[in-house]
Amino acid sequence: MRILKTKVEIKNVLKEYEEHGKSIGFVPTMGALHEGHMSLIYQAKEENDICVCSIFVNPTQFNEANDLEKYPRQLDQDITFLEAAYCDVLFLPEVEEMYPANEESINFEFGKLAEVMEGKSRPGHFRGVATIVKKLLDIVTPTTAYFGKKDYQQLLIIRSVCQQYNISTEIIGCDIVREEDGLAMSSRNQRLSKKQREEASFIYSVLEYTSLTGRRMSVNALKEWVSKKINQNSEMNLEYFELSDADDLTPIEEWGNGQKAMAFIVVNMGDVRLIDNIEL
Ligand code: PAJ
Repeated sequence: MRILKTKVEIKNVLKEYEEHGKSIGFVPTMGALHEGHMSLIYQAKEENDICVCSIFVNPTQFNEANDLEKYPRQLDQDITFLEAAYCDVLFLPEVEEMYPANEESINFEFGKLAEVMEGKSRPGHFRGVATIVKKLLDIVTPTTAYFGKKDYQQLLIIRSVCQQYNISTEIIGCDIVREEDGLAMSSRNQRLSKKQREEASFIYSVLEYTSLTGRRMSVNALKEWVSKKINQNSEMNLEYFELSDADDLTPIEEWGNGQKAMAFIVVNMGDVRLIDNIEL
């Protein structure tokens, strides 16, 4: 695997592939890789001639300094994982490379998409995500880029950025990879205490119940049930539980026919923020 740290280097390397008509599959990450990330790498590798991964802990998308500081960094293990998956190129820029001084920031317009859930809970978060993803797509110019549905709102935001800026990369949404007990894999899971980790599978149990039987209750009754169940657990604090339209994330107030609905949840366990979702 080639490890490249500057824009010039990676552009030069990828130009050679493009000149030979090779397709490029791209997986942007913030590192601390687990099987969730690796599932995107496997798919990118399988569907393209070459697979490019980036690892960059993007400071502009963290709205809490504490979260950025505590974000796990384990580069040696990440490189081992990527090499084992035959990833071809790792882009590993420093902050100065991605954010040169005196650069103008873009004012993205996401409309309603960014007004709910993560957009509401984490002011400025999606602006940071969109800024870095647009920069990375401009540098790598991939044929296809892969994003997890675990960050479903992020996936829709990225699709909207590509549309607004005429970026021709195809954006693929990939299924959530879970631990055996159902907990969605996340780099943050390793910060849970043993007790918290054991309890954390409860989030998925609640989501599964929601998916299987939620529509038999009214929207409000379901929300109240989830809120009560989660907050009954002494290790958990419910930040939000939303039922939304899968295409534009409009909050659902009443069940409708043929509606593609999804449930979105964020639970705080100590200072660890866990995010998950499920189709209904
Ligand atoms: P990060 O949290 O490292 O995630 C990188 C990609 O892996 C994202 O597309 C995310 O949705 C996906 N992913 C994480 N856990 C997953 C799981 N359990 N199953 C399936 N996919 C999973 O998301 C980011 O980084 C950043 O915001 C980024 C897009 C790289 C921009 O900085």
